[in-house]
Amino acid sequence: MLRLLKLTKTYKTGDQALKAIDLEVPKGQVLALIGPSGAGKSTMIRCINRLVEPTSGGVLLDDMDLTKLGSGALRKARREMGMIFQEYALVERLTVMENVLSGRLGYVGFWRSFLRRYPQSDVDEAFRLLDRVGLLHMADKRADELSGGQRQRVGICRALIQDPKLLLVDEPTASLDPKTSRQIMRLITELCQERGLAAIINIHDVALAQMFVPRVVGLRFGEIVFDGLPTGLTPEKLTEIYGEEDWEATIEKVDEDEDVEAAE
Ligand SMILES: Nc1ncnc2c1ncn2[C@@H]1O[C@H](COP(=O)(O)OP(=O)(O)OP(=O)(O)O)[C@@H](O)[C@H]1O
Ligand SMILES: [Mg+2]
Repeated sequence: MLRLLKLTKTYKTGDQALKAIDLEVPKGQVLALIGPSGAGKSTMIRCINRLVEPTSGGVLLDDMDLTKLGSGALRKARREMGMIFQEYALVERLTVMENVLSGRLGYVGFWRSFLRRYPQSDVDEAFRLLDRVGLLHMADKRADELSGGQRQRVGICRALIQDPKLLLVDEPTASLDPKTSRQIMRLITELCQERGLAAIINIHDVALAQMFVPRVVGLRFGEIVFDGLPTGLTPEKLTEIYGEEDWEATIEKVDEDEDVEAAE
């Protein structure tokens, strides 16, 4: 369903963030993308929907090469890809409901489109989604009145109301406490299962990834150095992905205050 073909990104600074990445993600598969800071995880996620423009290679979504699309066709194709960010990216002064509905607008023309009325079917679906994530009673609250976990739930609803085929998730739990992190990961993976959605979840917390996903891809210096079952992540493999020193730091991070990651 999603295929990356020799996907390469070299930033203007000369940083080779992705080096000819080949990856296939079948329909409905949820995978975790792990790797040390600077490995290219965010770049990979952003190259898929072209928030970052790939230098070369292909991004095939159901056989359509996204790298070849002009802006109109790209906007349409992006509706197939829901994006969930670490920083939630909600509009603070809008209500929960309005934030969820904004998912219907795609990435551009937000303010212009915002003045339009939403079809009742969109509003109904927004209520259904909020109910599903346990936020129905907060539909009228302003986004800036929510906790981090609640905000991330709104972000999830906003991505899902697009009715995407693929979710691109960049560190969904980096600013959340351990318990809320688990709840959010469970929610994302359950929703993917319910809806037959594929997902790439870029996540720092290896233990959390192992708990919830059937496949882990490890990136290092812009290359895939691991691709397999979470149980295959032996200490040796983790050392290969993170390097000796970084891996020690990552183990500590699992138990430590999440603020370390939030500050990044
Ligand atoms: N806009 C940019 N301009 C230049 N170089 C960049 C840019 N964004 C990222 N890079 C470089 O590309 C490489 C990969 O960065 P990326 O943000 O994709 O890593 P990451 O795996 O997401 O790291 P982290 O875990 O810290 O979020 C790094 O060397 C980084 O410095
Ligand atoms: Mg990143």
